[in-house]
Amino acid sequence: MGDAFQKPEIKAARKRTKERPMIRDYVFDPRYLDLGKGRKYLIQTHGCQANEADTEHIEGILDQAGFISTQVVEEADLILVNTCAVRENAENKVFGEIGRLKQYTYNNPDLIIGICGCMSQEEVVVEKLMRVHPHVKLILGTHNFDRILDYIHKIDQSHKRVIEVFSTEGDIIERLPTQRKSHVKAWVNIMYGCDEFCTYCIVPYTRGKERSRPFDAIISEVETLIQMGYQEITLLGQNVNAYGLDLPEKGISFAFLLETLRQMPIPRIRFTTSHPKDFSREIVQVLGKGGNLMPAIHLPVQSGSDAILKRMNRKYTKDSYLRLVQDIYAHIPSVSLTTDIIVGFPGETEADFSETLDLVRQARFEGAYTFIYSPRSGTPAALFPDDILYEVKKERLYTLNHLVNEGFLRGNQRFVHHNVDVLVEGRSKSNQDKFTGYTPHNKLVNFASDQDIIGKIIPVQIIEAKTWSLIGVVDHESN
Ligand code: 5AD
Ligand code: SF4
Repeated sequence: MGDAFQKPEIKAARKRTKERPMIRDYVFDPRYLDLGKGRKYLIQTHGCQANEADTEHIEGILDQAGFISTQVVEEADLILVNTCAVRENAENKVFGEIGRLKQYTYNNPDLIIGICGCMSQEEVVVEKLMRVHPHVKLILGTHNFDRILDYIHKIDQSHKRVIEVFSTEGDIIERLPTQRKSHVKAWVNIMYGCDEFCTYCIVPYTRGKERSRPFDAIISEVETLIQMGYQEITLLGQNVNAYGLDLPEKGISFAFLLETLRQMPIPRIRFTTSHPKDFSREIVQVLGKGGNLMPAIHLPVQSGSDAILKRMNRKYTKDSYLRLVQDIYAHIPSVSLTTDIIVGFPGETEADFSETLDLVRQARFEGAYTFIYSPRSGTPAALFPDDILYEVKKERLYTLNHLVNEGFLRGNQRFVHHNVDVLVEGRSKSNQDKFTGYTPHNKLVNFASDQDIIGKIIPVQIIEAKTWSLIGVVDHESN
């Protein structure tokens, strides 16, 4: 065929070096000023906030080259699927979607269908795409989406497929253009990659080595967001608690970053995701100062069994996790804690699962994302004998969800008859007079108003708690 493809290799992705990544600014190539002229793009985003943030950058880059965004598939000249590799069912959904997209190439032979994100970083996926889905014209990974205009240009010239995925991370790129989806709240990456290598998880392979962004770059991004009128930022990283550990400067830590941001005029600060092992006392103490640091913490526990935690390579025990939780409650008494839990990890016994249920009760979670373990090719756990019947896994998930939902409702009920500040994000899809927004504790509130209050933080009286949301009325007295 003569095409030069660069495919990912899981073995190379496992490697870690001590070298600091280069930091460079994104530079728009003026040759591409008209690349998107008369062309429309559509990006479908799956998975976590890291993907959502990447999509906003890709859209920013495409906009600079004159592409126009569309939500209508038939109109699109470029369809990009930003994929998630964390579980097999997420991947199957994407494969289904890619199959369905083929029909749009019949009317528009110049349509470019592309795949980016974490699935592109998997050897097995790229091979399958090449074999089974030749209508996919572009495959690029998480480390090189900044080069998307080069790839589109190459396809325009050659009419051939372009596959370029780097197995290991490259530079940290600053000043990426960003087309933010919301004018109210914004993502701010503080670090990339993950060095934890939990045995079930593909992320350290798809997103590379842990790299912290320079402290000043983060602060100046937040300053810009404040000037633009943003009300809330969410600091992003696979393990935000490890922020700064890889930086050459001494004394820069996640606690220091939070302390600095706490003194800036941004009304709300959130962060995700935390690894319990790196959640230091300093972080708990800073969060205890409150103010714009929101009292809602997502603290993935994964399991309550020490034996399973060990085989997951989580580096903490049920006891040490619960001690951290107690410390958090002591410093932030009203905090709303949420978590992630995996059931059916290889070798999980009924006794192990009971430990998880016990931990959920003791930690008083007010929400959890719960999953059945999904083996990921290339990870250590994929080689562990999967000895649990699927029926048993489903049963455990059902039992766990029941308990988790009780916590969800309890967490919502504690705000009934209270006045809470709601950051209004938009109108309800089903009723134009209804608005939706979130409280400091990250509770979803629906309420009616005859004024346009989007983007404002307003006091709302809570009158009813449902499992997933709160119903409120605008408190005109204090408005
Ligand atoms: N199977 C099931 N769940 C997983 N997660 C990560 N990898 C897997 C896997 N192989 C879950 C973890 C993590 C969340 C983002 O996804 O709970 O915290
Ligand atoms: Fe995956 Fe563990 Fe890293 Fe989270 S901390 S991204 S679960 S390897």
